[in-house]
Amino acid sequence: MAPIDVVSAIAPTNIGAVPKLLSEVASAGEALSEAGHDSVVARRELLAKARELTRALETPREIMIQQVWAQPCNVMAISFGVQSGLWTAMANNGDGPQKVVDLAKQLGVQEELLRRMMRHIAASGYIDMTAPDEYTPNNFSKSLSLAVMGSGYHTGPPILNPAFLQAHDWLKDKGYKCPTNNLDTPYQVAHNTKLHWFAHLQANPPHGQNFNDHMHGYLLGRPGWMDEGFYPVKERLFDGFDTAKDAVLLVDVGGGFGHYTEGFLSKFPDAPGRLILQDLPPVIAQIQQLNPRIEKMEYDFFTEQPVKGARAYYTHFILHDWPDADAIKIAKRVRDAMKPGYSRFLIHEHVVPPMGQDYEQTALDLIMMTNFGAKERSPAQWSELLEKNAGLKIVKIWTPINGIESVVECVRPE
Ligand SMILES: C[S@@+](CC[C@H](N)C(=O)[O-])C[C@H]1O[C@@H](n2cnc3c(N)ncnc32)[C@H](O)[C@@H]1O
Repeated sequence: MAPIDVVSAIAPTNIGAVPKLLSEVASAGEALSEAGHDSVVARRELLAKARELTRALETPREIMIQQVWAQPCNVMAISFGVQSGLWTAMANNGDGPQKVVDLAKQLGVQEELLRRMMRHIAASGYIDMTAPDEYTPNNFSKSLSLAVMGSGYHTGPPILNPAFLQAHDWLKDKGYKCPTNNLDTPYQVAHNTKLHWFAHLQANPPHGQNFNDHMHGYLLGRPGWMDEGFYPVKERLFDGFDTAKDAVLLVDVGGGFGHYTEGFLSKFPDAPGRLILQDLPPVIAQIQQLNPRIEKMEYDFFTEQPVKGARAYYTHFILHDWPDADAIKIAKRVRDAMKPGYSRFLIHEHVVPPMGQDYEQTALDLIMMTNFGAKERSPAQWSELLEKNAGLKIVKIWTPINGIESVVECVRPE
């Protein structure tokens, strides 16, 4: 018999904490007003407290139903809205109330189907029902009409989620151990393929394009690594930069559609030197627009790095995609191209702290586990990978805000 009484499943998770949490929510709210509504840190602190409050009030049974019924159905219903064009239609129709009957006609979908999908999304608080079968667009529904938001729903449910669903059987079969071979993960079982994740995506258009658009959606609103108070670009990269005409300032290795280099240029439009974006040929070919100052280069990062002695080699979300042996190979290719005493390798990745991890970090870690046989790394794991195995030296780990990716700054010792 279970040692826990079933009554605990219907009692609030932590009702005793509610009074204290209420006053902490109020204080965090005041802090946000004082800091200004665009303060990332103050807003995140209030959000964390508000979530803690909700969690304390909910019963375990409510959480369970929320997780196993409501949220999967929300993902399905919101994705249906992306696919059918519902969110775009609503955004185009303007800010006024919109009836299901009219929207169904406009989209060419069954009225009953649309009614049932929309009312679940509204019951969950994501859209506003203003009268029976009538909805008024809000900031969330309008944002869903953006390609960068929609691409998340084109990537999560069809690409990532099937691997989560396979994970239980896969892990049981393997004796409950983390996958470490990127050709033998729940992903390959879920998608019935022998291909690696990236190769499989590119072999199944438009998933590759959707994924890179989703990477753009991911970075929206997050502090840039080159922002004031994060990585000191002027002191570390511009000062002492080689003045030769063709000197390279930055190589964005595995840079996808170039969003991070574009972000860098928007902050530093007068940055000196050349900026190079490298990725596999199909990804480079899918780029639709790019700041003309950025040079596109087809490159496989397991091969010799053709750009030698750049001031900075930059990677965002590259090494976390790969198990240790592959990540070491990629890092060594960069190390071999670096000029000792001059080049820096800026690894823009999560550095998972021992406590107080952010759920975006931990979710990404499980995505890496189940889809890539890879991981998010702790400071000790980064040191082992880069210093012990790839011949690099970590100069400093720059972490401006807990839960936001750090810059692990490395140099080549000799
Ligand atoms: C998680 S995405 C990150 C993209 C970009 N750095 C960003 O953060 O938006 C990983 C990138 O690695 C690229 N990639 C995968 N294998 C590669 C390889 N062997 N050589 C070069 N790029 C590769 C993918 O095409 C993809 O653009």
